[in-house]
Amino acid sequence: MKMKLFFMLLAGLLPVLLHAQDNPVPTPQWRPVYHFTPQKNWMNDPNGLIYLNGVYHLYYQHNPFENKWGHMSWGHATSKDLINWKHLPVAIPEIEGKDTTTWIFSGSAVWDKHNTSGFGKNGKGPVVAIYTGDQPKQKKESQFIAYSNDGGLTYTNYANNPVIDLRKGDFRDPSVIWLEDQQKWLMSVAHPGIQKIEFYSSANLKDWELLSEFDRQGDTRRMWECPSLTPFFVDGDPAKKKWLLMISSSSPGDGVGMQYFTGDFDGRTFTNDNHAATKLFVDYGRTFFAAIPFNHLPGDAKTMLGWLVPFETPTHPWRGQMSIARDLALKTTPEGIRLYQQPAAVLNAYLKKLSAAKTMLKRNITINNNELALSSAKSFNTNTNWIDATFTTGTAQDFGFKIAQQKDGNKVVAETVVGYNMARQELYITQVKDGKVVATLEKMAVKPVNNKIRLQVLFDKSSLEIFVNDGEKVLTTLLFPEKNATGFAAFAAEGDVQLDTLKVWNLDKIL
Ligand code: FRU
Repeated sequence: MKMKLFFMLLAGLLPVLLHAQDNPVPTPQWRPVYHFTPQKNWMNDPNGLIYLNGVYHLYYQHNPFENKWGHMSWGHATSKDLINWKHLPVAIPEIEGKDTTTWIFSGSAVWDKHNTSGFGKNGKGPVVAIYTGDQPKQKKESQFIAYSNDGGLTYTNYANNPVIDLRKGDFRDPSVIWLEDQQKWLMSVAHPGIQKIEFYSSANLKDWELLSEFDRQGDTRRMWECPSLTPFFVDGDPAKKKWLLMISSSSPGDGVGMQYFTGDFDGRTFTNDNHAATKLFVDYGRTFFAAIPFNHLPGDAKTMLGWLVPFETPTHPWRGQMSIARDLALKTTPEGIRLYQQPAAVLNAYLKKLSAAKTMLKRNITINNNELALSSAKSFNTNTNWIDATFTTGTAQDFGFKIAQQKDGNKVVAETVVGYNMARQELYITQVKDGKVVATLEKMAVKPVNNKIRLQVLFDKSSLEIFVNDGEKVLTTLLFPEKNATGFAAFAAEGDVQLDTLKVWNLDKIL
């Protein structure tokens, strides 16, 4: 079954949602401040991420007309700092033909610097979008291209689309990069239901030759979508080149996830470094999905954005948000080469600009079987805190943070615990109501490094992204706290823990 069906279930069929669609209640309390959301209506995958002349372009799967999946088009926004986004008109709308409608499904965008496509004007290379044309009536998916000569604002569809047509119903999400050494374009594209990625090559973005395929390795529980293949220097060393293949997996009723493979690419074939059964995950939560890297970043930067798949709780007048932009690195570890993620370095400049009232810095605090309130200063009780903390483990069995806290005197009415448990060696997120744990929302196995745990916790109204130990592992989830549940504390239970450093930035307003 397709992700499409999954969206329909999410967006249309559940009675509770139907009711919400009839009578939508605005939910400003859940609109993130420093994560991207469309002004209104539905959003899913990031598409065509590209950096052009100092500006990050984000295109995204968008229904311009309704707050549910449908009429798929490429929405568009730009940013210079990956925090402040400018909303722009739809860049590629659905195509209404005589006897068919073409929806603009996921894909990528490249800057065709050498005008290999011939679409350029006045000696300038165009921006070319490569996407899947989904034709529901024909039950067909094939690869289309469109070009822009105004810096990615408006696109013209190529007259001879599709450029790859296998006459299949399930063939999508082309991701294209430029291979400088071969002077050729390389495409990764998915056959979701049979869990296969194909690699194609082209000199002009119009004629594509099949190079090879990669299938049924790693996590094969769900269909494969939104692949990307990216070269890296492992540990930043140009002598150690490796390729990262990322794939999104989803199935209705069984959630979503992203996995990755590291390996070699000889210009034709990708060879997995690991045993075919080895499973490596990009994120350990239930929402992070469809992430792709930006094309044409300066130097060696590798930055991606992912979509946080909405849970059942409806939001209005928009639905869907992006993750924080994440910098990627491949590092050598005792287990092999692994993917590390950090909030994009460009964002640090923004954090530095925040005033003293919005910045908290504490050092060497011991918390002993206690809770340390951190939101008494008004500036930190808006559910928009970005926390960066390093703990040295002690005798405490559990330690970490309590967020979205609502108290009645000393009594906890509601809170979300982001904790680390020493016995189980795991990070967990639990929901507490009337002082009792009512649900474990997420958990992830991770070990202290030299008795230390670093937690970067990015809480933004309804999203929660947690990077552990410099981004060795990441867990992303969604939360829907009550309006007045905004308290925030650090805690240690059954013993002590040392908080070596605690930095908190409150990003409640965009500067
Ligand atoms: C993933 C996905 C893609 C497809 C797009 C359609 O979320 O199903 O495979 O191109 O969404 O909106």
